[in-house]
Amino acid sequence: MKGKILSILRRKKEIVSGEDLSFDLGISRVSVWKHIRKLRELGYDIEATSGGYCFVSSPDALFPWEFPERKGKIHFFQETESTMDKARELSRKDCPDFTVVVAETQNRGRGRLKRTWLSEKGGLYFTVVLRPDIPPIFSFRVNFAASLVLAKLLRKMFSIEAGVKWPNDILVNDCKISGMLSEMEAEGEIVSFINIGIGLNVNNNPTPKEQRATSLKQLLGHAVGRREILAGFLDGLEKTLESNSPGHNLDHIGLDHIIGEWKEYTVTLGRMVKIVTTSETFHGKAIDVDENGALVIETEDGAIQKVVYGDCFH
Ligand code: BTN
Repeated sequence: MKGKILSILRRKKEIVSGEDLSFDLGISRVSVWKHIRKLRELGYDIEATSGGYCFVSSPDALFPWEFPERKGKIHFFQETESTMDKARELSRKDCPDFTVVVAETQNRGRGRLKRTWLSEKGGLYFTVVLRPDIPPIFSFRVNFAASLVLAKLLRKMFSIEAGVKWPNDILVNDCKISGMLSEMEAEGEIVSFINIGIGLNVNNNPTPKEQRATSLKQLLGHAVGRREILAGFLDGLEKTLESNSPGHNLDHIGLDHIIGEWKEYTVTLGRMVKIVTTSETFHGKAIDVDENGALVIETEDGAIQKVVYGDCFH
């Protein structure tokens, strides 16, 4: 109902009487008033005059009704432990493809390699549940697709030099602006779900603890809307996954060209890097990403090493 009220008020751009709203929506005037009061509590600026209601402005909100085209698929939390946990619960209960869990803050945000992800207000923290038609061993392609879609979107929306750092971070001017965590479950040869969790520094100020991190607000000098970023990312990812699904061409597994395209946007290749895996640490030059998403390193003694899972420091 809140979405419908907002849509009428935004469309009319003038005072709408309580009577008209109540008639259009089929609810009582008291009920209209209660919804408007709640919207105002949530930060919407709606003027109430003797003639009715007038929409003034919205907060930078990620409430489900702000995504009317994704009805029933956006789960919003003011605060949660981690959107990954909520998304996993929903996935195991058969929620549909492109279900999204988004939180204003997380008190146990998780990063890769068991790190903590600080989740201050103003950032964008969400997990999207995907059910792609791709064999489990190729699920890494979905992660590469997601980071590529986000980097391209940030470039387009804000004219910034967003690049991808292997495997799925996004950097601007060598500072991290976004990280991605992915969890997959499969039943035999079928992917049950791939949950992609993204933390993007938008209007928050990364703390000094988060070394070499930046946010959109710090880069641009002003706050930006998170709703448009989330909507743009979901639309972009949906398009990429749809147009690359194997259904379109039976010779393909799906997302066949994604690594190639990802390489056009990477800031890792050609760099001297330090690699930390669970078993070793070494230095070398990042020379390629192979068809399995592994980072190919030429070490100082000229040997070639492939890294499938680990940390890469530029
Ligand atoms: C990393 O760079 O280490 C990955 C960070 C991933 C953070 C996001 S925020 C939304 C989702 N929920 C989490 O707990 N983690 C991911």
